Amino acid sequence: MCGIVAGAFQDNVIPFLLYGLKQEEYRGYDACGIGFLEKKEIQIVKKIGRINSLVEKVQNLKGNIGIAHTRWATHGKNTENNAHPHMSMHRIFALVHNGTIYNYKEIRTSLMQKGYVFYSQTDTECLANLLEYEYALSGNILEAMQQMQQRVKGTYALCILNKEEERIYFMKKSAPLIIGIGKQGISLSSDIRALEQQDFSVDLDEEEYGYITKENYFIYNQNQRVTKKEKPIQKNRFQKKEISMDCYMKKEIFEIPYILENILKKYENGFSAEIINLFSQASKIVFIASGTSYHAALIGSQYFSIPTEIYFSSEFITEERKIHSDVLYVFLSQSGETMDVLKALEFVLSHKGITLGIANVENSTLLRKTQYSLQMHAEAEVAVASTKAYCAEVLLLYLLAKYDKISFCKENILLIIREIKEHLKNVESIENIAEQLKEKEHAYFLAKGKDYFLIQEASLKIKEVTYLHSETLYAGELKHGPIALIDEGFPVFLLGNKENNEALLSAREEVEARGAVTYFMTYDAKQDLGFLPLMTDFFLLAFYLAQKKGCDVDKPRNLAKSVTVE
Ligand code: AGP
Repeated sequence: MCGIVAGAFQDNVIPFLLYGLKQEEYRGYDACGIGFLEKKEIQIVKKIGRINSLVEKVQNLKGNIGIAHTRWATHGKNTENNAHPHMSMHRIFALVHNGTIYNYKEIRTSLMQKGYVFYSQTDTECLANLLEYEYALSGNILEAMQQMQQRVKGTYALCILNKEEERIYFMKKSAPLIIGIGKQGISLSSDIRALEQQDFSVDLDEEEYGYITKENYFIYNQNQRVTKKEKPIQKNRFQKKEISMDCYMKKEIFEIPYILENILKKYENGFSAEIINLFSQASKIVFIASGTSYHAALIGSQYFSIPTEIYFSSEFITEERKIHSDVLYVFLSQSGETMDVLKALEFVLSHKGITLGIANVENSTLLRKTQYSLQMHAEAEVAVASTKAYCAEVLLLYLLAKYDKISFCKENILLIIREIKEHLKNVESIENIAEQLKEKEHAYFLAKGKDYFLIQEASLKIKEVTYLHSETLYAGELKHGPIALIDEGFPVFLLGNKENNEALLSAREEVEARGAVTYFMTYDAKQDLGFLPLMTDFFLLAFYLAQKKGCDVDKPRNLAKSVTVE
């Protein structure tokens, strides 16, 4: 989703900003823009579409103090006016914003009554004008920011240019923002990836605000200066180095066996006593996640011997929801920044529930806010479509469920990993299926029982990257309505156990009799995690089909790597 990068540099900061935007590209966006200071004036350049077109427009420009943004459209269409940075009416401030302002309409109306004119449909523009208005009253930017903090309801990471000063102001609430420190100067970003050229980082906490200069940074909380620990920034973490591939999705699918081996190594000697206590003392485990992580929770929760419940994070908060002290609330998220997950977490924490966060991104908000945390160790996942993180999540849940007998399970896990490696060597048949699906518009995925959780993920992956409309069905339900759509050449995937699959076989006959083209995919359900090689096949199928259809595999339309809005 939206990405922020900003810098106050000794030299031209624009190349750094462009590099940062590129690093954040994987998050998904519709438009981008840069704002910088030039002789006490704020210059702004925006473009709809890819960063490369912005690069063409700004590569010969120079400025030492600048802010930049990638926008994923929420409030208002994808237009240049709606792209960031947004300027205040009298061009005193320009700002970039990640997050959502819930009461923007009310603020906008009251500012319009005071004579402010608005040029965009965004929630963000009201912040630029509100800041200008408050600044006119107090004559002090930090004070104006505090006033703004009190007035605004919502979530935000903000970087602000003031035309008079060689500084970048910032504010943060429920959206990530990090300070970068390096020889060239000081920077800010919503994503550590954009700060790789810097040496140290400082994480900002809730409701902190302040400013950076070319030499230093100043953080405040409720008027008090705050000092924080600087952490070294790990370099080259996100390059396509381990396996050289033309795109991240493919690379990440091919990394699955290595990631699983790594996770096994990390946890083969068990988990900390603290984590074991959590699971051994809980009367029930409630899993909360979204999208692919939710699918991983559906399947991974099956291995626990105590009762489990699984919720979409966006559906967790209801008036009736009770939080119990003997229940363990497990939040599962690749990014650790999914807003729905963080909102559900806030809810559980506010009701004093016991929380465990499992995320792939080190130091993510989820891992910092839960009382207990575990890292997924799937290494950086860049493609929007989550593949290796799904496998990592499933394995991690399996290991947690078997925490007292991991050594007994190790052989089986290694066997599964070997099987995945074999599947990755034999991709031809998958490529052939992809070829057959190229011109299709719809597909059905059928399964029975718990296998339904697997086709949910397979179907999501196909949808996400290939735009093929696919639907999941319990095989037995087919004849109660959905079979009406089957006609000549309609693709139907059937997924099931190698044995006892009579119901699937009869579903196959029913659809074949009506002209469907069927793909019967089986796995050995007697082996724990026996479905993982098959899931790898589905990931590959999604990849090859997307590639054959000429889709942007790593950055599918309308999607974002981490969904940081509700
Ligand atoms: C996965 O392919 C999707 N892009 C999406 O469903 C994702 O899994 C979901 O948004 C949750 O993300 P998280 O794991 O980072 O919380």
